[in-house]
Amino acid sequence: MKIDCTINGSPTVLDVSPMRRLIDLLREEMKLTGTKEGCGEGECGACTVLIDGEAVNSCLVIASQIQGRQVVTIEGLTPRSGLTPLQESFVRKGGLQCGICTPGMIVAARALLDKNLEPDALEIRTAIAGNLCRCTGYHRIVDSILEAAELERSRLSLVDTAPPDL
Ligand code: FES
Ligand code: FES
Repeated sequence: MKIDCTINGSPTVLDVSPMRRLIDLLREEMKLTGTKEGCGEGECGACTVLIDGEAVNSCLVIASQIQGRQVVTIEGLTPRSGLTPLQESFVRKGGLQCGICTPGMIVAARALLDKNLEPDALEIRTAIAGNLCRCTGYHRIVDSILEAAELERSRLSLVDTAPPDL
């Protein structure tokens, strides 16, 4: 089956079995190995990607379900050089240790912050409830996302108050 979709902003045509799992398409066909496989059963969130802006477990999505959709992986959220403020906050606040859960956590956090740039700790915990972490105890992840939200808000307010270009 030919699948027309957009992956990390690039229009993409895939010729694959309609039942192929999205995580396998990404990792094996597209070589986008930032998306991790943990449980393979929709329980751990390591495989989280954005589909049309919603965080979903790519191990539970099949190829035919991305027809016409926009898929964004951790690679699509990462600049060519350096890190985003969200990623920097994870580093600064200790929101990652072994890193296996981190791509999924960042993607889930991005989905939240794109909708709500003023989340409280409970809203953050709810947004990452499907993402398991065996290392950090979650507090530092929540702190990382709170800090990133604050940074992004202050950047936005700087843009809002910048004088017009002459
Ligand atoms: S690998 Fe998809 S939820 Fe665990
Ligand atoms: S940092 Fe190791 S599982 Fe989260």
